[in-house]
Amino acid sequence: MLRVMSRSLVPDAVERYVAMEISRETPLQRRLREETSHLPLAGMQIGADQGALLAMLVRALAAQRAIEVGTFTGYSSLAIASALPAGGKLVCCDVSEEWTSIARRYWKEAGVADRIQLKLAPASETLAALIRDGGTGTFDFAFIDADKSNYDAYYEACLRLLRAGGLIALDNMLWSGRVADPQFHDDDTDALRALNAKIRDDGRVDACLMTVGDGVMLAQKRPPQ
Ligand SMILES: C[S@@+](CC[C@H](N)C(=O)[O-])C[C@H]1O[C@@H](n2cnc3c(N)ncnc32)[C@H](O)[C@@H]1O
Repeated sequence: MLRVMSRSLVPDAVERYVAMEISRETPLQRRLREETSHLPLAGMQIGADQGALLAMLVRALAAQRAIEVGTFTGYSSLAIASALPAGGKLVCCDVSEEWTSIARRYWKEAGVADRIQLKLAPASETLAALIRDGGTGTFDFAFIDADKSNYDAYYEACLRLLRAGGLIALDNMLWSGRVADPQFHDDDTDALRALNAKIRDDGRVDACLMTVGDGVMLAQKRPPQ
């Protein structure tokens, strides 16, 4: 049996109900989850409910151009790219050839490989290059799910790259609940706690921290005042 996301804050039985009984997955998504489950860091993969959420957001925005920071074996990118229209574009940022080679196989099988540009480099470099090459204001959607200490920098870069009305989704913003414990400190927790508070007070966006999975922060870019 497949493992259920371990970092959810809801009771195990409820998480199992959501993941196993209610969330829809294509046979290909299920196969990718199964293959990933054998990796030591399988817990990094998003849940099926999060995949459905990302796809729904992409469709609701009528997004054509998207960015992903943190691809791993490809589950979230598969959800995003499959929800883009033909001719849409997803720029994927990761540093692992090994993990993204799995993603590439699934993109090909799903028929979405031509929509995806994988950039194997630190995401801060890839995002800076997109800005330098005139990408400011040209993207509709961004999903951030990589190294937590750089989330603020990724948020700032993605905010520049988004059009007004575009949306950023940031995963793991509850960090297994550690952000809610003011006594708990480590680099990642402090970074995520500070970013939650920053986004709450950020007049450039409308925001909502959803308690799905490990916490998904949605931040929608407002038009310039
Ligand atoms: C939590 S996993 C992403 C999970 C993925 N979204 C999914 O649905 O399966 C985080 C990924 O971020 C990548 N990563 C870590 N540091 C990075 C960096 N500085 N730049 C780009 N990618 C990075 C890791 O290689 C890893 O694949």
